Amino acid sequence: MENKKTQVAIIGAGPSGLLLGLLLDKQGIDNIIVERVTGDYVLGRIRAGVLEQGFAKLVREAGAAEKMDRLGEIHDSVEFAFNDERIELELKKLTGESVIVYGQVDITKDMMEVREQKGLETVYEASKVQPHDVKSNKPFITYTKDGKEFTLECDYIAGCDGFHGVSRKTIPNDVKTEYEKVYPFGWLGLMSDTPPINPHLIYAKNNRGFALASMRSKTRSRYYIQVPLDDKIEDWSDEAFWEELKKRMPKSARKNLVTGPSIEKSIVPTRSFICEPLQYGKLFLVGDAGHIVPPTGAKGLNLAASDVATLYKIMTRVYKEGDEKCIEQYSPIALRRIWNGVRFSWWMTDLLHNFDEKKDDFDKKMENSELKYFLNSDAGKKVIAEQYVGLPYEDLE
Ligand code: APR
Ligand code: PHB
Repeated sequence: MENKKTQVAIIGAGPSGLLLGLLLDKQGIDNIIVERVTGDYVLGRIRAGVLEQGFAKLVREAGAAEKMDRLGEIHDSVEFAFNDERIELELKKLTGESVIVYGQVDITKDMMEVREQKGLETVYEASKVQPHDVKSNKPFITYTKDGKEFTLECDYIAGCDGFHGVSRKTIPNDVKTEYEKVYPFGWLGLMSDTPPINPHLIYAKNNRGFALASMRSKTRSRYYIQVPLDDKIEDWSDEAFWEELKKRMPKSARKNLVTGPSIEKSIVPTRSFICEPLQYGKLFLVGDAGHIVPPTGAKGLNLAASDVATLYKIMTRVYKEGDEKCIEQYSPIALRRIWNGVRFSWWMTDLLHNFDEKKDDFDKKMENSELKYFLNSDAGKKVIAEQYVGLPYEDLE
């Protein structure tokens, strides 16, 4: 067994772990990331691409924003469509803020590269990763790498290991409460090197089901359509996808749809999940390890970033001011923003998708009227816009 030592041990080299690691390094706080798969495998998972300004500011502070700021697109608006009726939500005008369209895979790659350039340690392909003694003053992680066993001693453990990770499982069932809502549909996503159908994202509510027109750049588009959960990717040829997407896009946009071969096609399940608490002794759950949202509000990555922001402030105060007590602020602060993000994502999902057989015609009329009220009143638009661009991060007491 080989022994290693660090201040903050981070499990998982996804966007949460990488961003936290770079920010801690900025404050001279030593950290080592232990990741189960290879870096390429981490980058192989296609995810979303709408960044709140809060996230962008953190990436700049972490020193990994050069490409995001050079290649990312600033979007001052987003569009909603009801069948053929289109409504533009002017985010910038309503809130003073805009969002950045830049792929999660790209920002993850940028952070990986900066971490490597700085010579910060990341152990890829570590198996049997297990946190130990997280309620003691000497927590540690064990893992196996290249057939050799390692112990990584630390002061704190950041569980950035996603929904299927080991960290949340480390919190005893009689201590944690897990809230979950699984939706009876998925999002079939297709990426293509074709120009986007529209300069802004279009969230389309359609009698045939939900659809989203998004992009990665002026030459790369990302589209999604709502499909039954038991659909298989084999059921959907590119042609079938384009045909169905076209029917769900507002008529006036259809003529601008450029189709082409898919470079990626996958079905993502949609669920809301929250674990409480997010801190257990010296272990913190960060990002998808503690919560999952359906992609409708583009909040997954951004909620992970706000967790990182809070933990970063806390670790800085612990190591700079010796204030160990402030670690208890992590869970309540993070959960306040998470529950709001989960509610916004659930609300958008509920109103924009057709799924609840239990909803009768009266319910459906109510839904349409609710969404139309919000999107046609200044007050209503502001409510959606301020949540879409991201609510401010909370400071420590
Ligand atoms: N040991 C080590 N690493 C692990 C383990 C384990 N037992 N289990 C999982 N991991 C790694 C995964 O391989 C992955 O690289 O943890 C990482 C978790 O990364 P993400 O799932 O991307 O989670 P997070 O960094 O919190 O990013 C959240 O990802 O899913 C999107 O919508 C979500 O955008 C949000 C973002
Ligand atoms: C994406 O570009 O992949 C995307 C954008 C907005 C969402 C979800 C996904 O709400």
